[in-house]
Amino acid sequence: MPLVMEDIILRQKKGVYQILTPKFKTKLEYFLDAFEDYREEYIGRIDPSMFKELPYVDFDKDVWKLRQLDIELIKKIIPKSGKTLEIGAWNGWLSNRLVEMGCEVTALDFFTHHLDGLGAHKYYSNDWLTVQMNLDDLGNINGKYDLIVLNRCLPYFIDLNKTLSQLTFLLRPGGNTFDYWN
Ligand SMILES: C[S@@+](CC[C@H](N)C(=O)[O-])C[C@H]1O[C@@H](n2cnc3c(N)ncnc32)[C@H](O)[C@@H]1O
Repeated sequence: MPLVMEDIILRQKKGVYQILTPKFKTKLEYFLDAFEDYREEYIGRIDPSMFKELPYVDFDKDVWKLRQLDIELIKKIIPKSGKTLEIGAWNGWLSNRLVEMGCEVTALDFFTHHLDGLGAHKYYSNDWLTVQMNLDDLGNINGKYDLIVLNRCLPYFIDLNKTLSQLTFLLRPGGNTFDYWN
């Protein structure tokens, strides 16, 4: 049963929590149907056994070579543990590596496909919390984090200044944000 608070829906669907307004949910379902059709050929080539190895795979080299560099950089600069919010977590490749590094991860995204979104969580042996939500609604999150990671996500925010002040509020005093894209 969904738990409805004000106009927010919080419920669990196939292991992924949802925090969505009914209005955004309707728009999102329409978008995801079309986007998954568009990605069908790519998704069809994904072997779920590769998730645990990401980013060190021989598949879609342009994407994963860059993420091999990302993880090396992240390992150098982030704390070894702590409550971590990963924003725009996609298929969980980085959430998995952050858990391996000792972080307690909450991963946010609006893609939930089991081969191309948060639903891929089930193919990893590590565990973390996955939440489907609109990244422009970060104000709906309760809690404080030691680390907030936005890897290759900054271009997706409509109002970056608003997002940055929401992130400041979510960051525990003395915590870190890791933002990277180019
Ligand atoms: C370029 S991918 C980056 C994925 C991952 N962080 C990485 O480093 O590989 C951007 C991600 O942001 C998500 N995203 C973009 N806009 C979003 C929004 N408004 N709400 C939720 N997720 C969003 C996409 O679904 C996608 O998974």
